[in-house]
Amino acid sequence: MKAFVPGPTYHEMLHPETLPQAIRARAAAARGNELDPANLFNITWRDSAGNIRYVELPKALTGVDANILVLAGRWFPSGSHKVGPAYSTLVEGELAGEIEPGVSTIIGPSTGNFGIGTAYVSRLKGYSAVVIMPEQMSAERYQRIRQYGGQLDLTPGSESDVILVLERTEQYKKDAKNKILAQFELLPNYRFHRYVTGRSALEAAARHGNGRVAAFVAAPGSAGTLAAGDEIKARFPESVVCALEPKECSTLFNAGRGTHRIEGIGDKMVTLIHNVLTTDYVALIHDEDCVVGLDLLERRRPGVERLLGLQERALDTLGGLFGVSGICNIIGAIRMARFLHLGPDDNVITVATDGYDRYPSVLDNLAQRKGPATADHFEAMFRALDPAEILDVRPREQKERLFDAKEEVWRDFGYSHAYLESMKSQSFWDSEYDKTDGIDGALVQSR
Ligand SMILES: Cc1ncc(COP(=O)(O)O)c(C=O)c1O
Repeated sequence: MKAFVPGPTYHEMLHPETLPQAIRARAAAARGNELDPANLFNITWRDSAGNIRYVELPKALTGVDANILVLAGRWFPSGSHKVGPAYSTLVEGELAGEIEPGVSTIIGPSTGNFGIGTAYVSRLKGYSAVVIMPEQMSAERYQRIRQYGGQLDLTPGSESDVILVLERTEQYKKDAKNKILAQFELLPNYRFHRYVTGRSALEAAARHGNGRVAAFVAAPGSAGTLAAGDEIKARFPESVVCALEPKECSTLFNAGRGTHRIEGIGDKMVTLIHNVLTTDYVALIHDEDCVVGLDLLERRRPGVERLLGLQERALDTLGGLFGVSGICNIIGAIRMARFLHLGPDDNVITVATDGYDRYPSVLDNLAQRKGPATADHFEAMFRALDPAEILDVRPREQKERLFDAKEEVWRDFGYSHAYLESMKSQSFWDSEYDKTDGIDGALVQSR
């Protein structure tokens, strides 16, 4: 059997400063060559100085008193934090003896970023990879996957047609050498985000306001990122977790199932790894607001600066940091701050999964469809609040509705009623999380 190409533990992704000095030096040098396998050790929210990569949005932009902090995922190797779940799922498969170098082919069902992460991690760890994804995602996504040597298998439709991706994935299971990194189903995605993202978010918040987290806001695709909310709640039980959805595909909100333009989120289902127990609110965001919002922050910043009475180039530090779903999360974070009447001591945390580099083609398409956006749209998009578009899902009957919606999807993919029932208890999630240390120990042993 070929040896595993080594990579970090969960703990080392959270604290890369604990890696042996020689590995840290190799990882630092590897930043200049993205195909150097030492980049696996750069899968972390931290920069080379050890700081969590996030921005605090200017209050002039948000119009709210609360501090809105956005973790920036674009600095991860391959350009989005989705490489973390892809890496963690592959490594847990290796440790379980299910994935073998030289034997297995890695299959990544995705809408893009997880597929990019899968192709990238597979390349670094010496596996071939097939990414199954819809055919109408941004051109930049396919280009990256090919650049990393991943093969593409495209299914009809766009973001909200992920069920077709899952159905195609079933066909790959017939060949035992194909190993599926099933991001919607497997718990390494949960563990990565609860441990690495959740604790990184807590560390960022500690430097602002009262040091606590009043709200964590994220738009689920696989719902991996939302698991950070579980860790935040474990530390600050009063904090509120809000899941965002495109208004055009309001599946959690009211079983809506339409097509939409926010790549990476709104996949027409309750994913298996979504711990609906800890989701307190579901809020709807209009998809086109996120695309136009990105256009304003990327291509029309001077107009926005003028409108907000800011100095020229005051918003330049935000350039490149967000993709369309990042704008969705920012709009959602601002709305939740307003909805919850949060003040200057309160912190709202959200995430930008990827950066602008994946979306020039999407903004070119916007320009073709609509002509140039103007900064006049700013107020309506970033500042509006319609409480009818925020649903409180804390009541028991809402949880039951979401459990049922989950069962409806996952029964068809072979999950037993008993397993789905076990997920209705927080102890299921906590015990999955508690496996993290043991997995880290096994990984250290295998290196
Ligand atoms: C651009 C983008 N935003 C948001 C998400 C949602 O993240 P998660 O799958 O962790 O819920 C994804 C997932 O692929 C994504 O690619």
